[in-house]
Amino acid sequence: MEQQKIINKTIDFVKETLQDTESGHDWWHTYRVWKLSKHIAKTENADNFIVELGALLHDIADSKFHDKNENIGPKKAEEFLKTLNLDSNIIEQIKNIISNISFRTRNETTFKSVELDIIQDADRLDALGAIGIARAFNFGGHKNNTIYNPYIKPNTNMTKEEYKMRDKPTINHFYEKLLLLKDLMNTKGGQKIAEQRHAFMEQYLTEFYNEWEGKS
Ligand code: ADP
Ligand code: NI
Repeated sequence: MEQQKIINKTIDFVKETLQDTESGHDWWHTYRVWKLSKHIAKTENADNFIVELGALLHDIADSKFHDKNENIGPKKAEEFLKTLNLDSNIIEQIKNIISNISFRTRNETTFKSVELDIIQDADRLDALGAIGIARAFNFGGHKNNTIYNPYIKPNTNMTKEEYKMRDKPTINHFYEKLLLLKDLMNTKGGQKIAEQRHAFMEQYLTEFYNEWEGKS
């Protein structure tokens, strides 16, 4: 099967699989990560086919299972890709991308690939900028968190348990996670986009505090 046809079939499969997913990791998140991965790949020496398939399949597992069973994503992707008779070497690469995208920074794995670097950057970049701000307030609203509380200070040294409780004002999430992401980029292209989106968020925060105090 030609590559474009495989990509189209993968798009259909991902759309269908993610149809009931919460909005933070729905098809449109995958769509943005896919588009941005292709963009970043232009200035990297990467296999574009792997980049596209990896990006499309990176969040294929139901997020309910994400923390509990990290094998579900790679397994789902493998089962699907096998129906397209893809080369086992390609399937292996995609599985490695899916299982390593979220905990690579913790040095828990030795798997490395430029395609993974690109997709991981694109995935993190979707938490930054205008989209990132929208996702953060959407998440906070879903948890019934306040948007901001000047008495509750951000805490960047949270334990895993504290982080999971997530009962903090949404603005704190900017300091606890979003503004730290620009220093975690793998690729030059990702770094550049992160800096732009970071600057936009800082500008947003300045405006936010001004409005909070009735200054503008
Ligand atoms: P991922 O690991 O894919 O980023 P998360 O569930 O941590 O998954 O985040 C999904 C989206 O929700 C991201 O845009 C993230 O910034 C946002 N988010 C996560 N935790 C919080 C929080 N405590 N407050 C506001 N937004 C959050
Ligand atoms: Ni993702």
